[in-house]
Amino acid sequence: MVWFWVAAAIFLLFGFVVFRGAPYVPSHRKYARLALTKLYRLNADDVLVDLGSGDGTILRMASLKGARAIGYELNPILVLISQLLARGDKKQTTILADMWLTDFPADTTIVYVFSVTRDEAKLLKKLQNHVDEHGSDLWCITYGAGLRDKQPVKKLHAHTLYLFEPNPLQRKQA
Ligand SMILES: C[S@@+](CC[C@H](N)C(=O)[O-])C[C@H]1O[C@@H](n2cnc3c(N)ncnc32)[C@H](O)[C@@H]1O
Repeated sequence: MVWFWVAAAIFLLFGFVVFRGAPYVPSHRKYARLALTKLYRLNADDVLVDLGSGDGTILRMASLKGARAIGYELNPILVLISQLLARGDKKQTTILADMWLTDFPADTTIVYVFSVTRDEAKLLKKLQNHVDEHGSDLWCITYGAGLRDKQPVKKLHAHTLYLFEPNPLQRKQA
């Protein structure tokens, strides 16, 4: 009986996130590696944020390239796995948080997001608000669903690269 409740709790933890974002499916490693080398040349000067970081696959890849990597993840089990797999690596941080309710660091250079079509407009708004508030450019790689209302810089397989720039009107007002 205990196992029934454990299984039910795990099922609920993995299931309830669909109301807040994409369910847990890790990025295809080969294509993610290509995205972080050929689509965007990630390097030690970068600060990468993964919105919905799952088991930390993208954070580990980013860290191997010398970048600082911060993941926001809603599922505590995945946060724990990600933290265990990153132990000893000071470049990786995984935070238990809802990405829609959390702002990410001002020095972030690139956001990676495995998104769903339903969240496109929300994501577009969140990223544009971030650059308008902090006044610096921000790159974004989407996997799967892109940002229909924004012109991509480049595409590679299922990954798309976008550049967010501060709105000049917003900057003048600030
Ligand atoms: C498709 S997986 C991507 C995992 C990882 N980024 C990768 O590419 O391998 C999406 C992840 O986002 C998490 N998630 C969904 N909604 C979220 C939210 N509002 N805040 C934080 N994490 C969320 C899910 O729990 C899941 O682990």
